[in-house]
Amino acid sequence: MQIVHTLAELRQALAPFRHPAVVPTMGNLHQGHLELVRAAQSLGDVTLVTIFVNRLQFAPHEDFDRYPRTLESDYAQLAAAGCGLVFAPSEDELYPLPQTFKVQPPSELSDVLEGYFRPGFFTGVCTIVMKLLACTQARTAVFGKKDYQQLMLVRQMVQQFAMPIDIVGVETCRDADGLALSSRNGYLTTSERERAVLLSQTLQVFAKALRLGSTDYSLLETQAQQALAAAGWAPDYVTVRRRYDLQPPQAGDALVVLAAARLGATRLIDNLEV
Ligand code: PAF
Repeated sequence: MQIVHTLAELRQALAPFRHPAVVPTMGNLHQGHLELVRAAQSLGDVTLVTIFVNRLQFAPHEDFDRYPRTLESDYAQLAAAGCGLVFAPSEDELYPLPQTFKVQPPSELSDVLEGYFRPGFFTGVCTIVMKLLACTQARTAVFGKKDYQQLMLVRQMVQQFAMPIDIVGVETCRDADGLALSSRNGYLTTSERERAVLLSQTLQVFAKALRLGSTDYSLLETQAQQALAAAGWAPDYVTVRRRYDLQPPQAGDALVVLAAARLGATRLIDNLEV
């Protein structure tokens, strides 16, 4: 596995390849990321993982400085998972000047759900993803379904800009009790970790009711939020949306249930396709 830090080294390392399959990450890798790497392996002639903690997608009060930087352990895991090339640039390399050109996703897609609670987040995500796709000459890029809205926005961005890149979504990796793997799980105390399973359980109950034909979405949303609140969570949203653009569903739409809630100081998100 080759590790490069500059754009010049990256271009040189990519020269022999025609079809890079890229997995963008912010590092602090866990099994969920490694599943993305495994998925990428059959999708290109080189598997390229980017590791970059993107300041643009953190609000001033969020955890940019606290975000774990674990490069050595990331490299070891990536090598074991069969990654071919890692691009881990410094901030100066990727943002040598303030990034004043930005990708502004449409408000109806990006100011709802996560974007409502994290203003500007998806501008930061779309800007860095656009830049990483350009830098890496990706022909395929792999994202986890755990960040469902991010995946939806990247798909629509690539489509609207007519970028010749396949965007592939990979199923969420879960612990044995159902908790979706996330870098943020590391912030949970032992007792919070035991209680954290309630988020995925709540989504399962919600999804089951929908599969059984219930269409009283607002009642189901209220019940799900109450179940979390009763167990000491502070839910931001628990809702059902259509998969394609995460707008309120119409009859016949393919559905997804999504949730974000805070347990103690940690904010977790999860979703389940119905
Ligand atoms: O999902 C992430 O880790 C980040 O949002 C991404 C896509 C690497 C952009 O910084």
